[in-house]
Amino acid sequence: MKTDTLPWSQACENNKGPILEVLRTWMPASGHVLEIGTGTAQHVVFFAQALPGLRWLPTDRPGTLEGATARIRQAGVANVATPESLDVLAWPDGITGAFDAVFSANTAHIMGWPGVEALFAGVGRVLRPGGRFLLYGPFAYGGEHTAPSNARFHVTLQQQDPQSGIRDMDDLLPLAGRHRLRLTEDVAMPANNRTLVWTRD
Ligand SMILES: C[S@@+](CC[C@H](N)C(=O)[O-])C[C@H]1O[C@@H](n2cnc3c(N)ncnc32)[C@H](O)[C@@H]1O
Repeated sequence: MKTDTLPWSQACENNKGPILEVLRTWMPASGHVLEIGTGTAQHVVFFAQALPGLRWLPTDRPGTLEGATARIRQAGVANVATPESLDVLAWPDGITGAFDAVFSANTAHIMGWPGVEALFAGVGRVLRPGGRFLLYGPFAYGGEHTAPSNARFHVTLQQQDPQSGIRDMDDLLPLAGRHRLRLTEDVAMPANNRTLVWTRD
């Protein structure tokens, strides 16, 4: 793939700085981080450059890794591994723990609910006790969206794929608990997003 035509996301450019500040607070200074749903790899390249003590394994669904691989190669960041295939619904045997942290952005509202269940189950399996799972995106609380724009976004998502949609904390909290993930912090982010910080008990 030509590097000047790499997939690119304006949203990533906008949110990577604020997310980095949350990572500085909640990720360990050193260790091994799994990223799920890396997309364009803009996040992982930026975070890896800013946090050199962390070693990142970016992953995404099979067949979607070409752009991410090219971007990582172009950036020449030593602490990012070559991206690997990981569909949470068919978790590969080769991606096992124990990771010190897991990061995932804008994935829970894209995958269907069975995917969200598989995401939390998989993270609970591969994260070491005390490790952190940072999940960035829009979330709802008690059936209420946090902004009218999120309510509209939820409708648009469901029109495109009825299985997708903004997830509600009322559903996420018991799901996470079943996989020994405890909500440690819920950080307000720009553009009505949140970063949920879960700790593996
Ligand atoms: C909206 S994109 C977000 C990409 C990137 N994390 C970002 O913030 O720009 C959603 C990502 O979730 C990934 N995804 C969707 N379903 C998935 C699944 N079942 N397993 C793993 N990743 C999945 C997609 O391939 C895509 O990269």
